[in-house]
Amino acid sequence: MFKNQNFNYAVFGNPINHSKSPEIHGFFSNQTNVFHTYESVNVPLDEFVSFLLKFFKKHGKGANITAPFKQEAYLFCDKLTERARIAQSVNTLKKVNNKYILGDNTDGIGLLSDLIRLNFIKKNNSILILGAGGAVRGILFPLLSFGCSVFILNRTLSNAEKLVVQFSKYGKINIFDKNSSEKKHFDLIINATSKYDKNNENNIDVSFVSSKTCFYDMNYHKYDTPFFSSYIKKRSNGIGMLVFQAAHSFFLWHNIFPETNYIINSLKRNMK
Ligand code: ATR
Repeated sequence: MFKNQNFNYAVFGNPINHSKSPEIHGFFSNQTNVFHTYESVNVPLDEFVSFLLKFFKKHGKGANITAPFKQEAYLFCDKLTERARIAQSVNTLKKVNNKYILGDNTDGIGLLSDLIRLNFIKKNNSILILGAGGAVRGILFPLLSFGCSVFILNRTLSNAEKLVVQFSKYGKINIFDKNSSEKKHFDLIINATSKYDKNNENNIDVSFVSSKTCFYDMNYHKYDTPFFSSYIKKRSNGIGMLVFQAAHSFFLWHNIFPETNYIINSLKRNMK
């Protein structure tokens, strides 16, 4: 089941070959001198729970969970942090006192940390989110708690509506109607859809974009996304979010927050 039986931390997903988490956590371990063995585990789609049980019975102390298992991980936990309970999605597990499994979601706080680092976000900003899938469920609570107004545009309206109903008690959140006659400018646009090509049905009219609008793509890939590419100068992919969600997981496990800038810049450089 596992390549090396002695590691204490791991990322579970399917597929997992692309994962940069072992590299990031190896870097954090060296930098902080915390002993932290970390592997990636490719889990067959119907064996997630049995893999986790075996891992935590053996040497497992903590895990990161990636697609498509975040909702299953949420159901697996004995206890949840507030942000994981609200997101109904878990990307970090911790074995506490050898007794129970705590579930956390560090995706949203990871995104917020990177937006602050980039100077892309301020309290009271108006944010347009493209997409209404699992990734959005993880980021809404931190963005709303920060004091921003959120608008959601999604190909399938009913998926966006469900999120608006569920999250409206935490702040200002609405559906964005791109055909509305009311013209508004967003401070920040976040792409949280899994498709980012020219045919993405969420591409909106550039009249919603001003010279100050920032664009953040939660995907991380080599090429810049075509969304508004010739209009928005302040743009970023999701490498920083990836590093910060890992840093917040590391903090949950070891109570030490690692330095993040060096590894963000190094991963960005290596993508070019
Ligand atoms: P994730 O966990 O990455 O969010 P997901 O839950 O499958 O994955 O959600 C994918 C998101 O990308 C959804 O918002 C989806 O829109 P629908 O709710 O309409 O399915 C969006 N998406 C996927 N392909 C798209 C495309 N070609 N154009 C626009 N949106 C797309």
